[in-house]
Amino acid sequence: MSSANANSKLPAPIRACTVSRDVQNFDLLIEDMELELGESWGDLTFPSAMKYLDQPEARGLEFIAVAIDDDDESNIPIIEAVIQRASALGIRVLLIAEELGPIALHRLLRLGASDFVPYPLPEGALHDAVQRLRQPVMGSALGAQQPRGMMAPNQPLGAVYAVHPLAGGSGATTLAVNLAWEIANSGKTAPSVCLLDLDLQTGSVSTYLDLARTEKVYELLSNTAVMDRDFFMNTLQTFNEKLKVLTAAADMLPLDLITPDDIERVIKMARSNFDIVIIDMPGTVVQWTETVLNEADAYYAMMELDMRSAQNALRLIRALKAEALPLEKIQYVLNRAPKFTDLSGKARAKRMAESLDIEFELMLPDGTLQVTHANDHGLPLAEIAQKNPLLKEIRKLALSIATAARDDNRAAA
Ligand SMILES: Nc1ncnc2c1ncn2[C@@H]1O[C@H](COP(=O)(O)OP(=O)(O)O)[C@@H](O)[C@H]1O
Ligand SMILES: [Mg+2]
Repeated sequence: MSSANANSKLPAPIRACTVSRDVQNFDLLIEDMELELGESWGDLTFPSAMKYLDQPEARGLEFIAVAIDDDDESNIPIIEAVIQRASALGIRVLLIAEELGPIALHRLLRLGASDFVPYPLPEGALHDAVQRLRQPVMGSALGAQQPRGMMAPNQPLGAVYAVHPLAGGSGATTLAVNLAWEIANSGKTAPSVCLLDLDLQTGSVSTYLDLARTEKVYELLSNTAVMDRDFFMNTLQTFNEKLKVLTAAADMLPLDLITPDDIERVIKMARSNFDIVIIDMPGTVVQWTETVLNEADAYYAMMELDMRSAQNALRLIRALKAEALPLEKIQYVLNRAPKFTDLSGKARAKRMAESLDIEFELMLPDGTLQVTHANDHGLPLAEIAQKNPLLKEIRKLALSIATAARDDNRAAA
């Protein structure tokens, strides 16, 4: 490392290099490198990078910015070699990619790239990424060590409520979205709320709130080891100024690309920055269902009064019991519950609960077609149907959650 020290005394030591087919294809990168480093950077092609990295002067490099686009498909082997070589030498690799598919991106990150920025570079993105590179890896890997941001340092981590549909279409996402919105609107002292769509493949939170699915979500989920607060917060979208949302990614993600560690980091990061975290879960039990269950204060299992829900509930209960998971966190919710006057329906609900040896903690009424209209228009129910019976019930739950959060905060203060 002596050459790094020697270098820093020279007039314009090379502190970073771009590596690409031809840097002229990335003129925004040239501008941003100049802004960030002045004259202290160079540009390399892939073959010249392989040679340069083995020279002693390469030891002084702070990072290399590997820029690729869709014409680089045939160069992937040498790009991989450059990334592996740099990371073996302890030189950080920033990946800048235009139109790179998620699988290829993921592979390059796994090979040792530390961070990723899409091209064309968003304003300030290179600067932010370079700042992130400069942080020690361990510190940024641990969400709990991040500054709390919106929450005071002595406050407890935010509370986590997950919603899991026990049969497709049972209303989990509708509950997650409207619950999050109602909590965020529960008065002047409303808790801060973050909604995470972890239904990675078919997530519909973005549809129900009319938000775009962005590439950034994929970058975040496949890069959680280097995620810091800014990276996380910049990936969230804001709905009507009050609700922060992590939508599902733009592309369908292979579920096994995301590990329990990834999910844990994301939830911890959300909890350390928000009072309340609401999670929309996929209907299947995945590797990281347990992770969410362990993080959750309550885990709502959405059911309907039908055989599918009953059988899936039974499967879920068995699976959780076999693994000795915290079954007591599960709260069974009966959606489209029978009306007060529907005596036979109520008797059926009672029998179903008895046969599963569970209790319904919550009964949500049918909210008519208004619910589907609200979802299709990308709006929470409160924005178009104030008197909706489903909304009234969700609002009660939201108020109890918001009150509990305020009490927690007072206790911690
Ligand atoms: N209580 C309800 N009353 C009326 N419609 C509902 C109710 N709950 C859900 N829906 C509708 O059912 C459909 C599926 O709901 P969704 O929340 O996407 O289910 P899931 O996330 O469990 O798959 C949506 O069109 C939604 O508008
Ligand atoms: Mg859903």
